[in-house]
Amino acid sequence: MPLSVAPRTAPSASEIRQFADDIAYYLALSPRQLPSKYFYDALGSALFEAICELPWYRITRAEQRLIERHRRKLIERVQPSTLVELGPGSGAKLATILDASPSWRHVSVHLVDVSAAALAAAARTLSDGGRVDVFTHQAPYESGLAAVRRSGPANGRTLTLFLGSNIGNFDPPGAHALLRSIRGGLAPGDALLVGADLVKEERKLLLAYDDPLGVTAAFNRNLLVRINREIGGDFDVAAFAHRASWNAAASRVEMHLVSTRAQRVRVSRAGLEIAFREGETVWTESSYKYEPACVVAMLERAAFRPLEQWIDDEDRFALTLVEPA
Ligand code: AVI
Repeated sequence: MPLSVAPRTAPSASEIRQFADDIAYYLALSPRQLPSKYFYDALGSALFEAICELPWYRITRAEQRLIERHRRKLIERVQPSTLVELGPGSGAKLATILDASPSWRHVSVHLVDVSAAALAAAARTLSDGGRVDVFTHQAPYESGLAAVRRSGPANGRTLTLFLGSNIGNFDPPGAHALLRSIRGGLAPGDALLVGADLVKEERKLLLAYDDPLGVTAAFNRNLLVRINREIGGDFDVAAFAHRASWNAAASRVEMHLVSTRAQRVRVSRAGLEIAFREGETVWTESSYKYEPACVVAMLERAAFRPLEQWIDDEDRFALTLVEPA
């Protein structure tokens, strides 16, 4: 079956401009911030894949277990001819789901991700079996979904996958807007499967986001490496420490980069010169954690109706299957 992949290796001029504009905007906020979507250059994507292998980061394995346990029921219930995955990672979970699809059914797969490296890896995984048409869309989720729609009407039913607790990287208004946008593209009979990490002991949450091997710290700091390389930053990467904290009131793990001394940083293409105080932080990511009923409520607010919810009690993770209400 054909494989349509067009990953770009070097960012385009407009991507660089957008990156520089975002960095100028977010670093000027108080407290300073950097958008987590920029973690995923080639090295950041490789570091994230390594995080998924860490014994302390259990999201990937918990979700994979649930998928293996329930994929037949999922496929029988939805009978999809088209699968759309937002943020496919290595493509392993989608490959597991596809394995449960009958071999006679022709399936088209659309992968949406900002990372060319992640798309290339996922497309390779999925093309191995040779049973599916794979289309990649290198774009943020909402514009990627629009590109999927522009690529023509789906034959049969569409199952959209939003796995890995990627939803948790959006604040509640952002999550609602994205779910509404997914909902807007669905027809009767289509379905959405959402993977969401659940609230658990603080100690476990902190180990998942501040692992003893320092892989998550490298993932966090790599954002500064990327700024230096792509938009003319002069961050002294070693002078920023990784910090993960649990914000119980907001039900989220936060990642920050902490300036370990007073220092000046320039980012030439963003027209920035910043004086960091010792201890000043840059907030780089939120990972919201949920209760199962909160996931359902969030989906209902976005005009979905729940069909199934499967929970992994060992690692506290939920897969929720919904249809348009
Ligand atoms: C991709 N996303 C769901 C991950 C998470 O758990 O928030 C990204 C990550 N950040 C640190 N470790 C993993």
